[in-house]
Amino acid sequence: MGALSRGRARLAGQSARDQKTGAFLDQLENHLRVGEIARGRVLDLFCYHGGFGLQAARHAEQVLCIDQDQGAVERARQNAEQNSLGNVSVRAGNAFDELRAAVESRQRYDLVILDPPAFAKRHSALAGARRAYKDLNLRALRLLEPGGILISCSCSARVTAEMFEELLAEAAVDARRRVAILERRGAGRDHPVLLGVPETGYLKCFVLQALD
Ligand SMILES: C[S@@+](CC[C@H](N)C(=O)[O-])C[C@H]1O[C@@H](n2cnc3c(N)ncnc32)[C@H](O)[C@@H]1O
Repeated sequence: MGALSRGRARLAGQSARDQKTGAFLDQLENHLRVGEIARGRVLDLFCYHGGFGLQAARHAEQVLCIDQDQGAVERARQNAEQNSLGNVSVRAGNAFDELRAAVESRQRYDLVILDPPAFAKRHSALAGARRAYKDLNLRALRLLEPGGILISCSCSARVTAEMFEELLAEAAVDARRRVAILERRGAGRDHPVLLGVPETGYLKCFVLQALD
């Protein structure tokens, strides 16, 4: 982890009561990548302990982190304080409601991060999950400044990378945004995808740019 951890915001000690045994380590390299590309106003939805938002804060003007779990919000706040990141604010909220309200009040961001929980844990949940992902991404795209970046993740193994890309394309059409795929990313190198075991490629992380 040495080279990866240099110069990044540090997250406080995790506890076994936290989600995902304490930290979403599969996202670590994506957190660091976001730290490199962040600028301006940033919205980190489903922030958990601030893994994305805190890295983004190193180069962004302002970062707003939102999660519905009060414990996660407290921890994200502590992490921002311990890293002396005065440009980070954290609050509890439902990401779907927050996005709807932000679109209605015509807010604009240079970077939006979507890292929701797995919406399709069972095959029967796939259609609903697809709708939820599309709804989130459509609204997030509407918030972007021209040239703005959307980091869009899905950790549902049942939603394949092809499916996810297809619904991102549908969201872009409905949002009336011309969008470029800058990067197709997955889990970090310490979470390898095993040939013949497609579910090990569960994590998708797209870096998208609204061109105008
Ligand atoms: C995959 S985790 C996010 C991990 C985090 N982005 C990271 O990289 O460390 C999903 C998070 O979404 C939160 N969550 C679930 N449903 C939500 C909702 N409707 N609105 C806001 N947060 C929600 C959970 O509490 C959890 O912290």
